[in-house]
Amino acid sequence: MSAASPLAPPAAPCVVEPAPALAARGRVTIYEVGPRDGLQNEQAFVPTARKVELVEALLGAGLPKVEATSFVHPRWIPALADADAVMAHFRGGPHAERLSALVPNERGLGRAAEADAREVAVFMSASETHNQRNINKSRDEAYRAFEPVFEACAARGARVRAYVSVAWGCPYEGLVSPREVAAVAARLLGMGAYEVSLGDTTGVGDPALTARVLEAVGGRVSLSRVAMHMHDTWGRALANCAVGLEAGVRVFDASVGGLGGCPYAPGASGNLATEDLVSMLSLMGFETGVDWGRLVAAGRLAQELVGRELPSRALRAALAGG
Ligand code: HMG
Ligand code: MG
Repeated sequence: MSAASPLAPPAAPCVVEPAPALAARGRVTIYEVGPRDGLQNEQAFVPTARKVELVEALLGAGLPKVEATSFVHPRWIPALADADAVMAHFRGGPHAERLSALVPNERGLGRAAEADAREVAVFMSASETHNQRNINKSRDEAYRAFEPVFEACAARGARVRAYVSVAWGCPYEGLVSPREVAAVAARLLGMGAYEVSLGDTTGVGDPALTARVLEAVGGRVSLSRVAMHMHDTWGRALANCAVGLEAGVRVFDASVGGLGGCPYAPGASGNLATEDLVSMLSLMGFETGVDWGRLVAAGRLAQELVGRELPSRALRAALAGG
């Protein structure tokens, strides 16, 4: 292959300098979920100090938001049984405002408040069966369980983010109506969430369905308060995000290296990789504020922590010197 061939690999990582014609398309916020959604699925327990190291590496790479852990029941998610210690490490520190933690109920919020978490994330499924399997509650029961969480957060000035899981399809019920997704999103925002993140928990979404989901949700709430949380099971997460960008979504969840999965959603694989997303956004002319070299170093660290190569293609290319 000659150097002039359009198929020749670029001499240097092309993520740092977007083509001038595409530059300045505005800011996109990446909400990093690797330490929570990624590590929750790991069989081998990652020691607390190493989890903290990963969160620090991601903050250091410039990711504006990092979901650091999860205050669910340790029997349900043993990999994050040290949530209290992980969060306490950052209490009152300079990055406390940039961290969030998953919380399923008032008991989880109590634990998060002990560590002075400034932001928590609640989660509701768009289907009844997934909600039951995931948090052992009907959706009506879960809404009731969230009420005191929203009230307590409002009282102590903490922010609440909300997920709508299985928004593109449910592993138990199959297709989920986009109108139902929109109704759940609107209800969670109405309860006091500052942002709702639509989760393709098992990564079944495709660009056409994504357009329909966003049209339905955008008909009920402003897409400026909507994030997308794509898993990459079928390799379509980036394409779905491109549809989201066109529709006006400007917040995307991603996981370092593509770590991840939901233990209560059979078939769920890793999240969209942060490196793949940053690389694409940068080439499209969107600003993320992420330092590419430090992000690759965080990806290398994540691989070290779980003891295997992670699926992010951009990370692999960067580590191979691409
Ligand atoms: P349960 O067994 O129904 O709980 O579990 P309960 O309310 O009946 O309480 C039983 C005992 O657990 C009590 O203790 C509670 O105090 C205690 P006892 O009185 O018997 O001594 N308990 C807790 N302990 C610690 N932390 C808590 C807590 N809550 C109750 N927070 C529960 C209900 C919600 C706790 C359980 O089902 C659970 O933890 N589920 C979490 C499942 C999970 O983490 N799934 C993965 C995350 S969701 C996801 O990945 C999707 C997402 O990424 C978006 C997407 O991809 O779409 C967000
Ligand atoms: Mg997820």
